[in-house]
Amino acid sequence: MQDDIFSRKILLDVTKLEVIYNKSSLAIQGVSLKVPEETIVAILGVNGAGKTTTLRAISGFLGSDAADIKDGLIRFEGKKLNGKYPHEIAREGVILVPERQKIFETLTVKENLMVGAGRIKKSHLKEALDKVYFYFPVLDQRSSAVAGYLSGGERQMLAIGSALLCSPKLLLLDEFSLGLAPLVVDFLTEVLESLRNDLGLTILLVEQNATAALKIADYGYIMENGRVVFEGAPERLMSHEDVKEFYLGIGSAGSKNYRDVKQYSRTRRWWG
Ligand SMILES: Nc1ncnc2c1ncn2[C@@H]1O[C@H](COP(=O)(O)OP(=O)(O)O)[C@@H](O)[C@H]1O
Ligand SMILES: [Mg+2]
Repeated sequence: MQDDIFSRKILLDVTKLEVIYNKSSLAIQGVSLKVPEETIVAILGVNGAGKTTTLRAISGFLGSDAADIKDGLIRFEGKKLNGKYPHEIAREGVILVPERQKIFETLTVKENLMVGAGRIKKSHLKEALDKVYFYFPVLDQRSSAVAGYLSGGERQMLAIGSALLCSPKLLLLDEFSLGLAPLVVDFLTEVLESLRNDLGLTILLVEQNATAALKIADYGYIMENGRVVFEGAPERLMSHEDVKEFYLGIGSAGSKNYRDVKQYSRTRRWWG
């Protein structure tokens, strides 16, 4: 994308967010990020960096895990989201596709899709379903199959398809590529691009798979230990030595094994 994306309307604006687990451990420490409309923004980071917690804070799904927003502001289309219930946030058009437990295993594919479709008028339902089937033809072919028998890729498609039927303005995707074959990841990234380009959907995705994420992102944030440590356009991120080394596996020092990387990670610097 060529224009300065931050001159667009900012759909999601997170300022100095702090999230604490069990009233004691500060998982998110002053995270600020912006998601302009009709863009794909990626949050990258290793396991435990705070990516999921950030998405859960935005979507309101913190309560079940004894987590609280301690400080900061989350605004969507200018409206404050902090303190709202997940269903209220979903009604605003912020829809989360979580890391796990994303489908109802004992329901059929079609039944899964209908769960999310509750807010769509009957007269629009067929059109909305057809749109999902257009992007994910396999869901049409397997619409009466029990979801528990789907492959990993099909499950992810069903989860994203169900989210699309919740009338999202902002889709939050937590590690959509995890455990999927490269071809499936390629297919999904192309669909996400089309959703942005054709439907004007805005997407905030979190990923450990930087290659997949940066291929389609308009902007990226790198999180470490609950903080944003680096941010920029994909080209800027991809040319950063540490990003190359730790997230893309193409460091200048040649390939390293995991232990070397871990060792080195203690001394790496993000600035300087
Ligand atoms: N339910 C929980 N209770 C307590 N601490 C948690 C819980 N979930 C995550 N954390 C902690 O919060 C930090 C961020 O975790 P998370 O948001 O899951 O990171 P990521 O998604 O980047 O892997 C980690 O230190 C993790 O141990
Ligand atoms: Mg996570």
